[in-house]
Amino acid sequence: MKFLPLLLLLPALQACAPSGTDAATGERAFKQCASCHQVGASARSGFGPQLNGLFGRRAGSTPDFAYSEAMKTSGIVWDERSLTAFLHDPARLVPGTRMRFWGIADENEIKALQAYLRTFQDAR
Ligand code: HEC
Repeated sequence: MKFLPLLLLLPALQACAPSGTDAATGERAFKQCASCHQVGASARSGFGPQLNGLFGRRAGSTPDFAYSEAMKTSGIVWDERSLTAFLHDPARLVPGTRMRFWGIADENEIKALQAYLRTFQDAR
């Protein structure tokens, strides 16, 4: 229950954010993910799992990708908070993850990436 205040605050924060430009910035930032991850219509797993409908998705749960034990048993549900921590430092949030990525230091870049990923929330 300790995350509840944050969850309640997030929609308010999002309402203030210029999400259009954020998503466009995020699209550029996603180039560093695109060698491993697909999004959009008919996205499927490659080196990494597809990232459609990510928000509210349980970590390690897409059926067509062979995740690490670490990811499958992490107990994480992807939301703003967990994604921010993961993209900042994947191996710190999920020790033993197979995602070989240093992480992103810039908070705004992480925000923009999430705005972009959110545009694929309903993609199949
Ligand atoms: C070198 C390949 C590679 C790159 C680059 C990469 N990833 Fe990953 N990613 C993976 C792999 C492999 C996994 C599965 C990890 C595991 O099973 O431990 C993963 C897992 C994830 C997950 C968890 C998905 C799930 O179904 O639980 C998210 C979210 C994610 N990556 C986002 C990103 C984003 C955003 C970027 C760009 C900033 C990125 N990744 C860059 C390979 C990569």
